[in-house]
Amino acid sequence: MCGIVGYIGEKKAAPILIKGLKKLEYRGYDSAGIATIDNGKIAIKKDIGKIDDIEKNIGLKSLDGCVGISHCRWATHGKVSRENAHPHCNFEKNISIVHNGIIENYTELKNKLESKGFKFCSETDTEVIVHLVDSYYEGDIKEAVIKALKEIDGSYALGLISSKDPDKLIAARKESPLIIGIGEKENFIASDVPAILNKTNKVIYLDNEEIALITKDKVDVFDINGSKIKKKVHKIEWDAEQAEKGGYEHFMLKEIFEQPKVISETVEGRISNDEITLKKEIGLTKEEIKKIRRIIVVACGTSWHAGIVGEFMLEELAKIPVEVEYASEFRYRDPIIDDGTMVIAISQSGETADTLAAIREARKKKAKIISIVNVIGSAIARESDIVLYTKAGPEIGVASTKAFTSQLIVLYLLTVYFGSIRGFIDKQQVKNRIRDLRMLPLQIQSILDEKNYIKLHAKQFYHKKNALYLGRGINYPIALEGALKLKEVSYIHAEGYPAAEMKHGPIALIDKEMPIVVVATKDNRTYKKVLSNIQEVKARGGIVIAIVTKGDKEIGKFVDHNLYVPKNSYILTPLLAVIPLQMFAYYIAVMRGNDPDYPKNLAKSVCVE
Ligand code: AGP
Repeated sequence: MCGIVGYIGEKKAAPILIKGLKKLEYRGYDSAGIATIDNGKIAIKKDIGKIDDIEKNIGLKSLDGCVGISHCRWATHGKVSRENAHPHCNFEKNISIVHNGIIENYTELKNKLESKGFKFCSETDTEVIVHLVDSYYEGDIKEAVIKALKEIDGSYALGLISSKDPDKLIAARKESPLIIGIGEKENFIASDVPAILNKTNKVIYLDNEEIALITKDKVDVFDINGSKIKKKVHKIEWDAEQAEKGGYEHFMLKEIFEQPKVISETVEGRISNDEITLKKEIGLTKEEIKKIRRIIVVACGTSWHAGIVGEFMLEELAKIPVEVEYASEFRYRDPIIDDGTMVIAISQSGETADTLAAIREARKKKAKIISIVNVIGSAIARESDIVLYTKAGPEIGVASTKAFTSQLIVLYLLTVYFGSIRGFIDKQQVKNRIRDLRMLPLQIQSILDEKNYIKLHAKQFYHKKNALYLGRGINYPIALEGALKLKEVSYIHAEGYPAAEMKHGPIALIDKEMPIVVVATKDNRTYKKVLSNIQEVKARGGIVIAIVTKGDKEIGKFVDHNLYVPKNSYILTPLLAVIPLQMFAYYIAVMRGNDPDYPKNLAKSVCVE
């Protein structure tokens, strides 16, 4: 949802900005640009397209100057065009700005500014900010920014430079993410950590309505009234290498293959001597855990699918009723939250605006909030009572893969922990559950090792126009997730359905052109029923690709294609079944000539509601 990088220091800014921007391209890739201060003047280069192409066409790197801001755009207001690309500047070209977010009262502000003679040259909401700052400038850029921000409704992360004050970089945020990287005789701003990881691992998280005045040697942070605030410097544990492709063709593929390691790392430190050791992280007393009467999960997209798997886990093993809500819908009802209700927010980025709004709604109603988040220090993490971090490392691919499996791991750990404290799982069962968990990394590796086999299947289906994904019980959300992955990266229309629901409508779509992907792993709950659903598909000429348990001899005669996963407990099957579906979607996307890391129209962190 737009990426921002800013630099101030002793080195040439443009190459540093381009490098950082490339790491943020997952946030927006329809246009990009850079502004620097060179010889007391602002110089801007921007264009539509991806950064590499823009660099080739107009040579962003050639901009001189040691202070600069840059931006990659995911269009909200105004079409994709050079004029609408950031940075924007005022008429005299002595103030320039990059922005991520939405200015809700921009029409009103634009009319006001136009009536005062300010000329606009883009259709963006962002441009009002730069003219507003210009209108308030009376010799102090920070004061002008503060006055402008006080008039703005909406969300913003912004970087600003001015040739009237060439040794300063200004940053501000409200609702959209922005961090400050602390270097040696140089400082940075960025929308996300990977952009600056190769430069520093020391960061300051800007909070809502905070403004930073940054020089090469100093960072001062102020509130919206101009009072100075003391900020903590955090150390980031991720290393720069984790944000590189590491020899893989795409981040998505790298992240799919990282899953065995990510699972081990998410579990590490949370199990000891056959016990789940979440006590310290969660900080709830046994009595508080026993008193939980209901859990509401709020999340979006893939994280919402993780929530549905969590619902099955928590209800079955911890005996807590769970409702899984689209975060975007949650606050438009009047959700009933009493003191026995706990809210769990799930988010890879920790910045998804809808999820953030949902937890704020829950907080208003006095709910305790646990978040399951990947990005340390992100807004959702900071606004939660308890944070359980998934340790997936930076997820760059827009299609979430490793974050999903790590979310399932955290949900599983939480479930077993709650279940044992609430008295529904005894010591031996905890031990068995941990044993099952420990099997996962090797089991997932064995699926990954079958990549050529999965690729072969992708080859047979990559030209299809539609697909139906079916699953039952705990694998129903995996059908949803498989369909979402295919849609996102291959642009093939795909629907996920509970297998039995198919006969209540979607069955009308089935013919020999329609591939039906069915999660049909062997268990003693839904397997037989799923076999019946498969027969219903076959009777109508559909082609069935089934995710089956290794060694299942029965299913072969009913389906056209098998993708195998090893056997584990029913509750952990989703972690295995999703892997071939991620790979299937990835290979299909590549065969169709798509770049799965940058699916069209999508952005990684959706910071607008
Ligand atoms: C997943 O592949 C998607 N790109 C998307 O659905 C994502 O899961 C959703 O936007 C939520 O993001 P979050 O986990 O960062 O909150």
